Parts: sequence; C-alpha cells; structure tokens
Amino acid sequence: MLKDVDFTGKVAVVTGAASGMGLMTAQEMARLGAKVVMCDVNAAALAEAAGEIGGCAFACVGDVRQYAHAEDAAKTAASLGGCDILVTCAGGNEARCCKSNVPFYEQPVEVIDWGLDVNLKGAVYFARALMPQMVEKKSGVICCLGSVTGFEGDGVGTMYGTAKSGLFNFVKGLALAGGPHNVRAVCVTPGPVLTRAAMSGMPTALGRAAETHELVDVILFMCSENASFITGSNHVVDGGRLCMYQPYVAPKETAK
Ligand SMILES: NC(=O)c1ccc[n+]([C@@H]2O[C@H](COP(=O)([O-])OP(=O)(O)OC[C@H]3O[C@@H](n4cnc5c(N)ncnc54)[C@H](O)[C@@H]3O)[C@@H](O)[C@H]2O)c1
Repeated sequence: MLKDVDFTGKVAVVTGAASGMGLMTAQEMARLGAKVVMCDVNAAALAEAAGEIGGCAFACVGDVRQYAHAEDAAKTAASLGGCDILVTCAGGNEARCCKSNVPFYEQPVEVIDWGLDVNLKGAVYFARALMPQMVEKKSGVICCLGSVTGFEGDGVGTMYGTAKSGLFNFVKGLALAGGPHNVRAVCVTPGPVLTRAAMSGMPTALGRAAETHELVDVILFMCSENASFITGSNHVVDGGRLCMYQPYVAPKETAK
C-alpha cells in the first residue's frame, strides 16, 4: 500500500542544496519533517536558502571535491542523531561550468579534473563519510543524481557523461555493501530539467523539459519507505529522451 511520504525524525544530507533539484529536495524534505544538512560551495546562496527553510536546515559550506567537506557534513549529521538519507545533487557539465567549450582533446586538465571530481568523486566522498552512520542505524538510503548524458556521451563535456555513468555502477556497489545493513542506494537519472531555462531546447519524446518538481517527487519517493525494496538500480526520468535514440527499424511487409 502506498504510504504518505513522511520524513519526520529523519536526518537528510543534500549536496548541491543551494540551487535547483538539491534546493527543492532540501525544502521538501524539511517540509515533510526532516532535519536537513544543506551542503554547497556557494556560501551566499546556501545561507539564503537555509535561512528561508528555518530551524530544521543546517548550512554546511564547502566543496564536494574535498573529503574534509564530507567529514564536516558527517559531523553535523551525527550531532543531529545520525544520517538517514543522502542525496548527491552537486554536479554539472564541466564545459558549461568551467566555460570551456572545446572538444575533449583540447580540454585543459583542470577542466577534466573538475568534471570527474565534482560529478563522481563528490558523491563517492559523501557516501564514504556518511554511510557508516546508516550502517550503525541499520537503515538508510543514498540517492545519486545521474544524467542521460551518462548513456549518451558528450564530446565536449566528456567527463560529465563519464562520471554520471560511473554513478550508475557506484550505486550497485553501495547496494551490495549496504544491503546486509538495510542501507539502500539508487540513482535517479534526469533528462532535461528546467532548473535552467536553456534546458527547454533539449528534445524529449514528450516535447518538453521536466519541471523541477517532476524529478524531486521521484527523489522523495526513492528516499521514502515506499521504495523499501528498491536498491542498486538506476531510474531514468527523461520524458522519453533516450527512446529517441533507438534506431527505428521499419517492419517488413508480412508475406501473404
Ligand atoms: N538540470 C538538468 O537538466 C539536469 C539534467 C540531468 C542531470 N542533472 C543533474 O542533476 C543534479 C542537479 O542539477 P540542477 O540543475 O538542479 O543543478 P544546479 O546547477 O541548479 O545546482 C547545482 C548546485 O551544485 C553546487 N555545486 C557545484 N559545484 C560544487 C562543488 N564543487 N561543491 C559543492 N557544491 C557544488 C552549485 O553551487 C549549485 O548550487 C546535477 O548533478 C546535474 O548534473 C541535471
């Protein structure tokens, strides 16, 4: 039976919480009863976002590429009773975020490092720092944000797709390590989402990009008791974008 999503008494850690899906996830989890540790590198936006949520939001400024930041978040979560939910949203295409719109073979190595480290290593660091609290509690869920680019590839922001496909496998490893302790791990993989207006131009079968809540609703479901048997899996929420890349083979005329 489908239960109302309720996070009363839960402690959630969300990375990339100052903007977009991370911000709405933090807002919604707080509204549904959780204490939320909000992590982001953008100190000003994070302070404003956490301030608007109020007393159940705890701002934790830092860069997910630094393991010390993940440890800070883990300390804050421990002081609140231990982490139940981790959602890793910090990420972005390195070509866009580092303003380096050249093919992979011309990308500066710093841009390559950014793409891999923010999108893959950040999630790895946070899971490593927070999972012991879940194992101790014999309960928890880790939800990583993937991307359809992890299936499609990108010749410019090549590390973005590489890192995101790494997360598809990462949650399998987490599921195997966490399973005996009732700790689940999933990947939610968006197509275009209107956290940026520019995403409205990306083709999907539905002919539009997702509203932010159409992804956040799935993240909330995955982190709730309703998803208690879902682990180790990747959940594509892309308005049918990936279907559009299947080659169409015309049916042969049936022999009479
Ligand atoms: N928006 C889309 O269309 C889309 C599509 C597919 C996948 N995704 C993925 O979903 C996730 C959320 O996307 P969004 O559009 O809501 O994001 P967003 O761009 O609105 O927010 C990302 C947040 O991450 C933070 N961040 C960036 N680098 C960081 C770092 N090194 N350390 C800590 N924080 C850092 C930023 O400050 C920002 O607040 C991302 O991982 C993104 O790759 C988004």
